[in-house]
Amino acid sequence: MAKSRIQFICQNCGSVHQRWAGKCDACGEWNTLVEEGTNSGIGSGPASLRSPRKGRAVALTTLSGDIEDAPRIASGIGELDRATGGGFVRGSALLVGGDPGIGKSTLLTQAAAALAAKGHRIVYVSGEEAVAQIRLRAQRLGVAAAPVELAAETNVEDILATIADGRRPDLLILDSIQTLWTDMADSAPGTVTQVRSSAQAMIRYAKSTGAAVVLVGHVTKEGQIAGPRVVEHMVDAVLYFEGEGGHHYRILRTVKNRFGPTDEIGVFEMSDKGLREVSNPSELFLGERHAKSPGAAVFAGMEGTRPVLVEIQALVAPSPLGTPRRAVVGWDSARLSMILAVLEAHCGVRFATHDVYLNVAGGYRITEPAADLAVAAALVSSLTGIALPADCVYFGEISLSGAIRPVAHAQQRLKEAEKLGFGQAVLPRGSEEISGGNGFGAFQPETLTDLVVRIAGTLRRNAED
Ligand code: TYD
Ligand code: MG
Repeated sequence: MAKSRIQFICQNCGSVHQRWAGKCDACGEWNTLVEEGTNSGIGSGPASLRSPRKGRAVALTTLSGDIEDAPRIASGIGELDRATGGGFVRGSALLVGGDPGIGKSTLLTQAAAALAAKGHRIVYVSGEEAVAQIRLRAQRLGVAAAPVELAAETNVEDILATIADGRRPDLLILDSIQTLWTDMADSAPGTVTQVRSSAQAMIRYAKSTGAAVVLVGHVTKEGQIAGPRVVEHMVDAVLYFEGEGGHHYRILRTVKNRFGPTDEIGVFEMSDKGLREVSNPSELFLGERHAKSPGAAVFAGMEGTRPVLVEIQALVAPSPLGTPRRAVVGWDSARLSMILAVLEAHCGVRFATHDVYLNVAGGYRITEPAADLAVAAALVSSLTGIALPADCVYFGEISLSGAIRPVAHAQQRLKEAEKLGFGQAVLPRGSEEISGGNGFGAFQPETLTDLVVRIAGTLRRNAED
């Protein structure tokens, strides 16, 4: 008979340890090892499947053959469909992760209502909220009349038994994966073992019946709560719902998608009547662009296939401290240090006695290195007190040698800038042929020094006027 042994499982990364330790060797997180029984079988499948049995032969097939085109259920909420790559895919599992309170349940309630109104069978199972709370939200969203089938339940077997009768649901929403538990595993709900076993059961349900399954998962910044991270590789698509506290904007970001593009974003605004789609995000992130103030530069960025213009704000002020402060919101602080070092080493711009603050407008977060040039321009502008031209966009990557490197999609970035009324651009040389021209002024510096000289030159030109 198999002996049940005690194991310790890291709640952050899911690695298995024989002994308890304060720190997980695998991921380096502290205090994440939790004792869990082994008869649930991490990595060895549910208990009932582990008893030795004779294997069943499966039919082998060929690479060629008919492919069923992934049939999708489009929600009609444009920004959501964009992020999923055109709608929920039948027979697939999708994970929607995000901080608690960001609006996951709101988004999915709206999607469920929209789909139910079109005649699809939608089942919404909540393990977190009582039916009354969900009804209250639906009333607030103005969708209480939609024929969504609702339940408050946390046991996987009960949920599967419930949806087994009647027409197969087109979409099954499970809010949230952390609250689910299955009889197959004997750990407490919310532990890695339970989350993994429950997710496995629901994914198996999706694959075998052809229903689309959406799993909601909470992630905390510290990664304290078990779950979504270990589910990520099991599901077909992963979307993260993000937003900065204090801002109303929410971004639905595709991190993984077996049936569509990644790096797509959907942009929403949280209002008192739920999430509103924002189809032109540039307008959100551009900030107030009336005053000519030093330290602001507009970055022409890309999010997946969509160009997004964002204002980058820098404040460089004399520091009273021995070690001046560097603070960044919405960008990588290591990258800021790099730009400062390049400006000091190659362009003779000194920040050693100055505090540097950098902010990306609208609570937006930039991950592209193409923002380097806009950041450098904002920094130099703030240090010198010279306002940059209000109708100019910047993009380009800066290398450690001070050279400006080309980035992809130059044409699309310029087109978006032109559409929003910008008339000039500072961009790398030779990125792509800049076609058109029609009055759009392009400055293509070879090195960062060229840009610094140009910004400093503005002062002289202004003085001469
Ligand atoms: P919720 O969808 O419950 O978040 P999650 O499921 O990710 O935990 O949304 C919670 C927040 O959204 C809450 O702070 C209230 C706010 N909200 C609105 O501002 N307007 C609305 O119409 C709704 C339904 C919620
Ligand atoms: Mg919720």
